Amino acid sequence: MPTGVTRGLYGLQGEAMTEPKHGALPIVVEETPGTKAYCQCGLSDKLPYCDGTHGRENTGIRPMVVEVDSAGKKAICQCHQSKNKPWCDGTHSRL
Ligand code: FES
Repeated sequence: MPTGVTRGLYGLQGEAMTEPKHGALPIVVEETPGTKAYCQCGLSDKLPYCDGTHGRENTGIRPMVVEVDSAGKKAICQCHQSKNKPWCDGTHSRL
């Protein structure tokens, strides 16, 4: 675990994870079709996308890889509590 990073608040399917850099609000992107790897550790410098930091920091957390089949605006969950990950389902507003 990187220095200065605490555990708590956010979970990944019931597991503790690192405190994200960004807070719990979704990140809205104009997505393009293709294979996407969305960060689940919260440490990427390219949020909402994985930049490999999870491996360099030995978090034990892996990105969520999905096939996006259509272009358009997408809200990517950052609270990690959505029932429809990687997409935001509004759960962050009830935390
Ligand atoms: S950098 Fe966060 S899951 Fe890869």
